[in-house]
Amino acid sequence: MSQQFQHDVLVIGSGAAGLSLALTLPAHLRIAVLSKGDLANGSTFWAQGGVAAVLDDTDTVQSHVEDTLNAGGGLCHEDAVRFTVEHSREAIQWLIDQGVPFTRDEHASDDDGGFEFHLTREGGHSHRRIIHAADATGAAIFTTLLAQARQRPNIELLEQRVAVDLITERRLGLEGDRCLGAYVLDRNTGEVDTFGARFTVLATGGAAKVYLYTSNPDGACGDGIAMAWRAGCRVANLEFNQFHPTCLYHPQAKSFLITEALRGEGALLKLPNGERFMPRFDPRAELAPRDIVARAIDHEMKRLGVDCVYLDISHKPAEFVKSHFPTVYERCLTFGIDITQQAIPVVPAAHYTCGGVMVDDQGHTDVPGLYAIGETSFTGLHGANRMASNSLLECFVYGRSASADIVAKLAAVDMPHALPCWDASQVTDSDEDVIIAHNWDELRRFMWDYVGIVRTNKRLQRAEHRVRLLLDEIDEFYSNYKVSRDLIELRNLAQVAELMIRSAMQRKESRGLHYTLDYPGLLDEARDTILQPPTYAD
Ligand code: FAD
Ligand code: SIN
Repeated sequence: MSQQFQHDVLVIGSGAAGLSLALTLPAHLRIAVLSKGDLANGSTFWAQGGVAAVLDDTDTVQSHVEDTLNAGGGLCHEDAVRFTVEHSREAIQWLIDQGVPFTRDEHASDDDGGFEFHLTREGGHSHRRIIHAADATGAAIFTTLLAQARQRPNIELLEQRVAVDLITERRLGLEGDRCLGAYVLDRNTGEVDTFGARFTVLATGGAAKVYLYTSNPDGACGDGIAMAWRAGCRVANLEFNQFHPTCLYHPQAKSFLITEALRGEGALLKLPNGERFMPRFDPRAELAPRDIVARAIDHEMKRLGVDCVYLDISHKPAEFVKSHFPTVYERCLTFGIDITQQAIPVVPAAHYTCGGVMVDDQGHTDVPGLYAIGETSFTGLHGANRMASNSLLECFVYGRSASADIVAKLAAVDMPHALPCWDASQVTDSDEDVIIAHNWDELRRFMWDYVGIVRTNKRLQRAEHRVRLLLDEIDEFYSNYKVSRDLIELRNLAQVAELMIRSAMQRKESRGLHYTLDYPGLLDEARDTILQPPTYAD
């Protein structure tokens, strides 16, 4: 039997964004935080490098703003950048107050006014401004925030719950447009439950799983973007998919990232013959923004017909490498690579979704009562290319500002009346799950081949044709069979892929992460690619 639940705030996602929002809401509110797998299954747990913020006395808000704008290829919204950076110090202080064990700077002293935590550097940053917990920052943050959430009786942490779709007044045929909650598959019972809520928050992470090779965990399927789109929200800049330049290249190493902080601490990129190549592409060499480094690697790999390039930090003292990068050191060692002695084979892989659900500084989407925060959202911060370690910062800043906005609106919003149950009367158990598996593979492969680091009109047209066929097939499947996590994710991935392809086709230039051989130049005017869902079309 499916169940009905009611909460003041329904938070879909238990990563950095969802947990920081939940923890900053007042203790008298009933809050549900959903995760579609275990609570740690989002990208947050895997973050390595750290969180960018203006923390050191020698750094300035203006400098962080300018670096972000430069990395963003002329497309960042300066007001969003400024808003984020101006709130960076207090967001980090909040994390420190929660107990996050950031790495301390053993050389800091009161005399030089030095900041007590170690700050590292990453691509695009002109200062050391990345606060971190060795090279496992995400795990340290997630574990601390989760422990705090577990101590709060008003926060229900619900695992194995997959949101299928948002419930809006429009969907129910009522007057108005407000979001009233969501239908959620309980993987333990197989039933789709109804979650009514005064406020609903999408904190569902990115969509890098749309590509065959990715640094992301399995759940990064763009569920929030697809659900928001179906509910009537605009989405923006989905053509900007960030490829992280350095993921471990090894047949058994499924999506293991080699943090950019290695390059920040002096690691060099080399060809198989040991030659450095980044200085030929950019004066900032290994510390150029990610789009430039990933494209340079792609170019060299294709030019030489090699499977990978190499990242070398073996010239640094072994103790330094082991103490700064224990996770990378240990993981590589399990594959027989001693990074204190030898270079690491690396390739680029899909890493971050710069576009997403359009929101303002408080995380409001186009649908009243619905917020989007974290990687699923589009705030304007990242422009055409996200600067390293600005993503976690965005999760905390917008998690906190959306929470404050909800508090301000509490008195004006009542609990929705009883909502209709999910209708499963027309569907049966699937006897053809092979179709789901096949379509998953096909989608991710053609996105990698046709909508990857280097694009062309022809490749995009091919991808568009394929995705339309897949969407039809998936729609038919969805109408006839009971939902499962795989089906829900495939449906969302295909929807987001279609939006990405459509966005890429609209951009007739090469800017930031979107590089096409048909339009290699830059247009004079930098414009967002905004897609309107059918209800918002003229
Ligand atoms: P996530 O942490 O991805 O969480 C998403 C949550 O939503 C999960 O709980 C998931 O279960 C849930 N969810 C999704 N769909 C549904 C659904 N349909 N129903 C129910 N629940 C759902 N950024 C930095 O700034 N610094 C770094 O050092 C850094 N390193 C990174 C390293 C790696 C390997 C990766 C993959 C990313 C890294 N990033 C880094 C990016 C950053 O980690 C992410 O952008 C950020 O963690 C996203 O947080 P989030 O809360 O938005 O989503
Ligand atoms: C990394 O550690 O290289 C990832 C940082 C990021 O994605 O911001």
